Amino acid sequence: MICTVFRLLRKVALVTGGASGIGESIVRLFHKHGAKVCVADIQDDIGQRLCNDVSGGLDVVSFFHCDVAIEDDVKRAVDHTVDKFGTLDIMVNNAGIAGGPNCWDIRNFELSKFEQVLDVNVKGVFLGMKHASRVMIPSKKGVIISICSVSGVMGGIGDHAYTSSKHAVLGLTRNVAAELGKHGIRVNCVSPFSVLTNMPLSQIPEDLRTEETKARLHNLAMSNANLQGVELSAEDVANAVVFMASDEARYVSGDNLMVDGGFTSVNHGFQVFK
Ligand SMILES: NC(=O)c1ccc[n+]([C@@H]2O[C@H](COP(=O)([O-])OP(=O)(O)OC[C@H]3O[C@@H](n4cnc5c(N)ncnc54)[C@H](O)[C@@H]3O)[C@@H](O)[C@H]2O)c1
Repeated sequence: MICTVFRLLRKVALVTGGASGIGESIVRLFHKHGAKVCVADIQDDIGQRLCNDVSGGLDVVSFFHCDVAIEDDVKRAVDHTVDKFGTLDIMVNNAGIAGGPNCWDIRNFELSKFEQVLDVNVKGVFLGMKHASRVMIPSKKGVIISICSVSGVMGGIGDHAYTSSKHAVLGLTRNVAAELGKHGIRVNCVSPFSVLTNMPLSQIPEDLRTEETKARLHNLAMSNANLQGVELSAEDVANAVVFMASDEARYVSGDNLMVDGGFTSVNHGFQVFK
């Protein structure tokens, strides 16, 4: 994609889980829009390769190893961003995981797995908000965007841990927006429908994880979509995040931008339009 308008020129961003999937698309698009970006992830090799690929020899995209469930990692990722690029304007809490293959019967759902999902998806977002605020409050500016999900507003789409974690991300977003508004900091989330990344694959047993299965899972989701003729991509989500991060959204806060083609706002169960 060629950007004719640089919506994030001179902005500095930190993207958790930025090494692959939706996060990678956000990193690439932020860079195209003129932002300097720190990629914080646990996949060091993939993250480092992405940075080399995107930055093209310029020192504008940086990798930092960070497990979002560990406070010291998040703190150091924020400090690294500020040391490297001078400030932090945009914090994107994107890193997330789902429950895995053994979570579809509550009787077999290990508490440790439930806690692991909440550690990454909720604690990770909370820590991102907390440490971004440390830099943003004194600057009296900043944007915090968390990647939520259609599972943040509806049940019956994801596993119990994932669904409750995403409902919590929405609650955190609204509450932190309530606190940080007085400092001029906007806090929002973006909620996608199904995107063809590795995440859906993590939900099935390892020996069945092939590209074909991944596509089949995605097609299953798409067959339940509302909007037809369009396939949601990671770049569509990244575009919504760029909008939320840009000055064009300067009066948008406490909001949850659904990127779901109307999936959560219609119920086709009654089939009145079939
Ligand atoms: N793919 C979808 O259909 C979909 C739909 C709605 C919302 N989401 C949300 O979008 C976000 C990105 O998901 P994705 O689909 O790109 O998944 P993905 O698995 O492709 O990418 C997730 C990234 O997060 C990183 N990560 C995982 N645990 C981490 C940790 N503890 N610390 C730091 N990084 C970690 C991974 O290494 C990976 O780079 C998640 O929050 C997910 O819940 C995804």
